[in-house]
Amino acid sequence: MHTQVAIIGAGPAGLLLSQLLHVHGISSVVLERRDRAYVEGRIRAGILEQITQDLMREAGAATNMDRNGLVHHGIELSLDGVRQRVDLSGHTGGKTVMVYGQTQVVHDLIETRLATQGDLRFEAENVTLDNLTDGEHATIRFRHQGVDQVLTADFVAGCDGFHGVSRASIPADILKVYEKVYPFAWLGILADAPPPADELIYARHPRGFALFSMRSASVARHYIQVTPDTDPEDWPDAKIWDELDARLGDGTTVPRGPLRDKSVTPMRSFVAEPMRHGRLFLAGDAAHIVPPTGAKGLNLAASDIHSLTRALTDFYRSGDSAGLDAYSENALARVWKAERFSWWMTTMLHTMPADQAFESRIHRADLAYVLGSDAALTTLAENYVGLPV
Ligand code: APR
Ligand code: PHB
Repeated sequence: MHTQVAIIGAGPAGLLLSQLLHVHGISSVVLERRDRAYVEGRIRAGILEQITQDLMREAGAATNMDRNGLVHHGIELSLDGVRQRVDLSGHTGGKTVMVYGQTQVVHDLIETRLATQGDLRFEAENVTLDNLTDGEHATIRFRHQGVDQVLTADFVAGCDGFHGVSRASIPADILKVYEKVYPFAWLGILADAPPPADELIYARHPRGFALFSMRSASVARHYIQVTPDTDPEDWPDAKIWDELDARLGDGTTVPRGPLRDKSVTPMRSFVAEPMRHGRLFLAGDAAHIVPPTGAKGLNLAASDIHSLTRALTDFYRSGDSAGLDAYSENALARVWKAERFSWWMTTMLHTMPADQAFESRIHRADLAYVLGSDAALTTLAENYVGLPV
């Protein structure tokens, strides 16, 4: 079995790449370790930059997004209970973001890929990658439906997330990793309740960070800063709602409703360099992780896929490998800017453990400064809506 591009992982990165390659006449096979229900059930972030929306449209997967996505022109920042609106559009020449859950993005991409006869193999086990730098083709071995299989490919796209096999296939003496683990995590809930405001509220409070987000006018997605060892079972629903009220901190109450999901997400910054090794190209969480405070994870993955699609299309159309050769360097330049923004938003909005009281005060002062500076608000807004790809 041979394909032009073997794609490891059916998260947003792998699915988007597969569908975009199809649109451009390039064949691919997607190998995904988990089953379809698991992949479609994962609840993740929910902010789409323009580039991500555009790629969904180019992929022919945007019907639901364009019908149900909520266009947002601003966000709110709250410091110790005092809220201030950040006019994202006003600071960026009219740019916006769209609120549309990653869960829906993945669902829409799977539907579209299957409707276009895409070769998606769920529950593909024991994937290994060989001949990445030698031989005529890359060799991908895996086990599917109880049968050992071999796939050869011109290229491999490693879209298999932080714990995947792709990055691990790059020799340790070539790969360099940069990592920061934060001393806190997010406890997230999805609830059948209206959000407290029309726009997202990012709140810094002495009790810790809180984010008030949404999936629709009647479904809220909220988060609170907790310690990384937190067991969600220690947080009964009422305790979470009380904490959200306290951290909003303006005396109003957050609309309550039944919870559909409750989970804890660790917070990490991570970059692996380079993002290419011979025939292997890393994209998305396989190469980089950002803490979710800047809403950049999915959008960075989409930006990688934008570059990789262009590079592969040029290569197959005219034999031009300039885009492939420049992929890693160009992607990393963008990745590090998003890493910086995500780290900055995270430190500015979270409280630090007691032994880092000085840092906590400095970070609070950072937010106080931003709220009073038009220049700083412009900086925040242009990064939040997405820097040019
Ligand atoms: N073989 C096959 N598939 C694998 C393997 C493997 N060895 N290891 C992991 N996978 C699959 C996972 O099951 C998952 O479905 O790869 C997929 C990776 O998907 P994501 O983790 O969603 O990563 P990505 O597509 O890069 O999307 C980035 O997701 O985690 C968020 O914040 C992140 O929003 C960002 C987006
Ligand atoms: C979400 O709605 O899940 C969400 C929104 C903004 C973020 C992170 C998560 O910064």
